[in-house]
Amino acid sequence: MVFPEYRPRRMRKNAALRALIRENRLDASQFIYPLFVMPGKNKREAIGSMPGVYRVSVDQLAREARECLELGVNSVILFGLPEKKDAMGSGAHAKNGIVQQAIRELKNKAPEMTVVTDVCLCEYTDHGHCGCLINKAVDNDATLEILAKTALSHAEAGADMVAPSDMMDGRVAEIRAALDEHGHEGIPIMSYAVKYASAFYGPFRDAADCAPQFGDRRGYQMDPANSREALREATLDVDEGADILMVKPAVAYLDIISKLRDEFDLPIAAYHVSGEYAMIKAAAEKGWIDGERVMEETLLSIRRAGADIIVTYFAKDMARLLRG
Ligand code: PBG
Repeated sequence: MVFPEYRPRRMRKNAALRALIRENRLDASQFIYPLFVMPGKNKREAIGSMPGVYRVSVDQLAREARECLELGVNSVILFGLPEKKDAMGSGAHAKNGIVQQAIRELKNKAPEMTVVTDVCLCEYTDHGHCGCLINKAVDNDATLEILAKTALSHAEAGADMVAPSDMMDGRVAEIRAALDEHGHEGIPIMSYAVKYASAFYGPFRDAADCAPQFGDRRGYQMDPANSREALREATLDVDEGADILMVKPAVAYLDIISKLRDEFDLPIAAYHVSGEYAMIKAAAEKGWIDGERVMEETLLSIRRAGADIIVTYFAKDMARLLRG
């Protein structure tokens, strides 16, 4: 059927018809909202490069959780700013570490909240790299054990899901084994399977104080030029026992999300990262774009590419917009 018999505009005539044939929808229950937790009491610090996002102390978490839950955002991912850092990132797996405290607080005060934790060392090492160093290089195999300890400490504090973001080879298998050995076979792993060495993480590194003190992360995070390698990375994580595959960043990598969607039957997550968020906020503040519409269109594009789950700083704003 071709024009003039077939006219696609017929189905775009009004809002009801458009809604009837809409292929993709956003749903607050598939958003994960990132929370930055800091030491101290009664703290709520704005993050300059991420308008609307705050670092909060543990006692403020219940309030954050309540706000999310009321909007239908039932999942958060935790990032911690520890009191002290060291070469081995030992704060990452401290029994009373900042994230471990945050998990216990949330599970105590808002038990219906799904608490995901980011498993990585960069916020806890004094050099800012995602693993421990041997001869100024991140040592893969020595790091695995620390990551597994970290994931286990999160599970023991009550986390519902762990999300390794370090990009060490073999970490999913190591974490799975550690969890299973200690009776946490019910805790899923959302793997940052395909994480690129991206400049879009800039604002996050301010927020979480985790910029590398020398060099960069190109020795472990993926080269932005590669796409076949993304399938290889994802395949490894599936074989090692990942429950969810994540792509990060999102918008500059929609082709990768789409490829993973076609290739794998696991749930796919995408992380709409700090720089992607900051660009929209900045342009909207200048009055150059309609921030709300660009937010919705952007998150829809991630959904359309094939992501089930979206980790986003827009989770609350978008949920509010969906409520109308
Ligand atoms: C930790 C981690 C980072 C992000 C999530 N987990 C920073 C990095 O890899 O440098 C970035 C998130 C964002 O930019 O919003 N490794």
